[in-house]
Amino acid sequence: MSTPQSNINDQYLAAMGVTQWVRRDVSKFEPAFKETLVDDVAELDWETLEARVASCTNCDLHKGRTQTVFGTGNKNAHWMIIGEAPGADEDRQGEPFVGRAGQLLNAMLLAIGLKREEVYIANTVKCRPPNNRNPLPAEAQLCESFLKRQIELIQPDIILAVGKVAAQNILHSDETVGAMRGKQLLLPEFNIPVVVTYHPAYLLRSPGEKRKAWQDLKLARNIFNALKN
Ligand code: URA
Repeated sequence: MSTPQSNINDQYLAAMGVTQWVRRDVSKFEPAFKETLVDDVAELDWETLEARVASCTNCDLHKGRTQTVFGTGNKNAHWMIIGEAPGADEDRQGEPFVGRAGQLLNAMLLAIGLKREEVYIANTVKCRPPNNRNPLPAEAQLCESFLKRQIELIQPDIILAVGKVAAQNILHSDETVGAMRGKQLLLPEFNIPVVVTYHPAYLLRSPGEKRKAWQDLKLARNIFNALKN
């Protein structure tokens, strides 16, 4: 999957004139967090990585969690779905996207022919933020190496980023979903195609936006199909 596929990806993406994202300036975050960045996860296997996440105390989010929410699905998946952070249901069950938003996410995936078990689902942050607030940039940054290692181990062909927070964190962008969706982007450092769409929780509140989400899903499906042909 990795080498020949990435060559095909490069050619395809170059032909598409894909936007490259500029890394966000991390110097504006608290100075302390940079020193505590978790760099030694780069070599970890699945089991050790999961254990490391389960015992992580790198940021204050660990204080409020019932358990960490590592990720779920096929570890050889072609598709990776990345969300923001666990909510109350996920914190209780230890699995991402198991609440109402998760049910809608499952339906969105099925609409493009993907079963939940077939993809890999993870969040940018592995612990539930208090009162379902957005994860802080520093929290996402401290958790980033875990997600990056998951991406490295899976080597997905395509990533669907759901919601502003997930998309901004993985793309190191400050853009809105409206600005990021509807086109093919690239995951910095990995050169994996990324499609951004609305978070299913937002779609539950704003069903009128489902039409645009459907366009994004079809775009992602077309990108994936083109990579495979
Ligand atoms: N929202 C997310 O972004 N992730 C989850 O796991 C659940 C809800």
